[in-house]
Amino acid sequence: MASMKYFIITYGCQMNVADSEKIASALEKTGQQPANNVKEADLLVINACSVRQAAIDRVYGQINNFPDKKIIVAGCLLDFDKKRLAQNKNISFWNPDEYFKLPPARLASESVAGGPPRTNKNTANIPIMTGCNNFCSYCVVPYTRGREKSRPASRIIKEVKSLIKKGYKEVILLGQNVNSYKDKKNNFLQLLQKINNLPGDFWLSFLTSHPKDMSDKLIETMARCEKIAPYIHLPVQSGDNEILKKMNRHYTVTHYKNLIKKLRAAFKKHRVNFPPLAISTDIIVGFPGETKKQFQHTANLAREIKFDMIYFAQYSPRPGTAAARLPDDVPQQEKKRRTRILNNILKKTALQNNKKYIGKTVDVLINKIKKDCAIGKTATLKTVKIDANPHSELTYLPKLQKRTVSDSLASVKIIGATAWGLRGKLKADTDKISNRLYKKSNI
Ligand code: SAH
Ligand code: SF4
Ligand code: F3S
Repeated sequence: MASMKYFIITYGCQMNVADSEKIASALEKTGQQPANNVKEADLLVINACSVRQAAIDRVYGQINNFPDKKIIVAGCLLDFDKKRLAQNKNISFWNPDEYFKLPPARLASESVAGGPPRTNKNTANIPIMTGCNNFCSYCVVPYTRGREKSRPASRIIKEVKSLIKKGYKEVILLGQNVNSYKDKKNNFLQLLQKINNLPGDFWLSFLTSHPKDMSDKLIETMARCEKIAPYIHLPVQSGDNEILKKMNRHYTVTHYKNLIKKLRAAFKKHRVNFPPLAISTDIIVGFPGETKKQFQHTANLAREIKFDMIYFAQYSPRPGTAAARLPDDVPQQEKKRRTRILNNILKKTALQNNKKYIGKTVDVLINKIKKDCAIGKTATLKTVKIDANPHSELTYLPKLQKRTVSDSLASVKIIGATAWGLRGKLKADTDKISNRLYKKSNI
């Protein structure tokens, strides 16, 4: 390929974000240059998501916007869409398994010295496995990403080590169902323990756990590994047993509630009091046949658990999945109404949880410096806005602006809370993650 300017548009989950970094690295190894914006690019890479129809519609939209560019569609695509897109001669395809097969990409993705260029300088998203074997009845991922495949732990650990050395403060391990990670020698517990034991200061977290595979041992390990952030994303999808069955999720609401109880108890036992374990989830509203009563069960669960965050999705039938054979019979308006009800519950529970931060001092990882404030997040994934206070804190913004990758942590006193975030005042610079996350016995 002659040298071209490329631009990548990424849709979908963090897995795609991580893959886009690999794609960028592969392109740069073959001499392509990043474009500043999409207009300037000769080559447009669209990293697609097919999880809902709306996501794939956007891909078609982008292609129509740029008829003159060479386009590569990467990421999650159904054969049906691939065939339709392939009629356009400007389009070629990379499917997720191929990023590694391209000779330069193989070097880029597996080499430790070079490493894929990462967009966020604090947070490393590290895929530990690809694909999924679960076939939840609504979900397209097993069709677009194929079966589960785990990366060797030795490679993952090498990558983590090198990133920590470079000053990354947060490591997020990615997979559709990380609980079933397995290489020749290690399961997920062993992988977590090995990463936790690496020297250095960093937060460790992982996405996504499946409630059917979350063992008591994993809960105990999470709470005992002091670098693991007090945060868990545990998608429930529905609070009704019949719907869960139709979704092919293989757990009951009681099982889910018990997991949350055990998680909270384990963190109470092994960690210092603050911050408490934060819990987020995914919920689909309007799954085929979901009655008002069944939806009420989901609303009740949300009230009971008091989630810190809920990622809602209105059910969207995906061709080829088992649920697509059922009538999509909850009207759009009703799906919206149910989303609103859940959102109102979330607003209350998240606000209640966030208010507990007021007056406390927490570690904040700074991601963005603006003119009059800095934006960061806690290990529990709360967004924190650090205000400039012209009277007493004149010096701190310039100081923050001078920060580099390796000192992007700050100690912040929380002075305000809404449902969606916190406000705080900078207390001190800190190079180290303070021992607030650490085991009780360490203090
Ligand atoms: N592996 C993860 C999530 C993968 S997809 C898990 O098991 O939870 C991310 C989220 O998209 C899902 O959790 C679900 O809430 C939502 N989703 C998946 N398929 C969907 C569909 N057909 N319609 C609406 N939402 C969907
Ligand atoms: Fe989809 Fe279920 Fe696999 Fe998650 S576990 S990716 S929802 S099939
Ligand atoms: Fe992620 Fe969408 Fe693929 S959610 S795994 S990018 S279908």
